[in-house]
Amino acid sequence: MVTPRLGHDNLGLGVGLRSTHYPYILDNEPDVDWFEIISENYMDSQGRPRYVLEQIVERYPIVMHGVSMSIGSSDPLDFDYLDKLKALAEVVDARWVSDHLCWTGVAGRNTHDLLPVPLDEPTLEHVIERIHIVQDVLQRRLILENPSTYITFAQSTMPEWEFLTRMAEETDCGLLLDVNNVYVSSVNHDFDPVEYVESVPHERIVQCHLAGHTNMGTYCIDTHDGKVIDPVWELYRLTHKRTGGISTLLEWDANIPPFQEVHAEVLKAKQHMSDQLTSTTTSEDASSIVSEKDDAPSHAIPQPVVFVGAEVE
Ligand SMILES: [Fe+2]
Repeated sequence: MVTPRLGHDNLGLGVGLRSTHYPYILDNEPDVDWFEIISENYMDSQGRPRYVLEQIVERYPIVMHGVSMSIGSSDPLDFDYLDKLKALAEVVDARWVSDHLCWTGVAGRNTHDLLPVPLDEPTLEHVIERIHIVQDVLQRRLILENPSTYITFAQSTMPEWEFLTRMAEETDCGLLLDVNNVYVSSVNHDFDPVEYVESVPHERIVQCHLAGHTNMGTYCIDTHDGKVIDPVWELYRLTHKRTGGISTLLEWDANIPPFQEVHAEVLKAKQHMSDQLTSTTTSEDASSIVSEKDDAPSHAIPQPVVFVGAEVE
């Protein structure tokens, strides 16, 4: 039996730390439960970002979220990167360290994109082997997030939730469930997002991400530039119900409004944890979530078929 959240505390409702909010946070010490930092923004810097972070660390719990571990790449793991990650985790007393199930480059080049992996046995074996190594180096459990994706691979043999489940059980790693990513990918690849959320191992979910996205009509892009839409809140409610309560974080990375507005958005999660939980999510709820995909704007930009929905051999 695996301990819920793998023994990690439920930190409450947090906000992704962004530099545009530094002055407000330092001046006002807002009543936010915790912050998540993008690890790479602080690993090499000894300047203002690091100075600000040191002050925030004194007042708030910190979680580290990385974007370039490239756990799925065929490149060797970057041990210099992992050493820096470990050092930063010690400095900020990180509650946990997360990254994504993806690859971000090859042949030493960083694409700065979170690219999808084939969901097949060889890739699963490859990722499992690398997670073991990373956890040995970091001397802590790694938490991995489901990515939003725009292509699928012809050689994939299992749904993403099965890949994540087997990966987590084999390595004892944790999961960061981004319910917006589940929704975005479900639109792009036409799968049932409720089945996905129902199927991941809930006791291994350490954290949840919420975010806004852009609906292009025939597909969605994970833009993190707005409020959380109702179907994503539905998935959050289901996640809360299945996990029994989970550290929840709002990501807002483009068109970032004042801090108070970002904070207010994540506080909406409280509504979805309480009275609405008396209702039971059923297959009817599932169909309502799926059907809302049809409400996409008719003025959508034409789908770039080469990029989205392509089957990569
Ligand atoms: Fe996320």
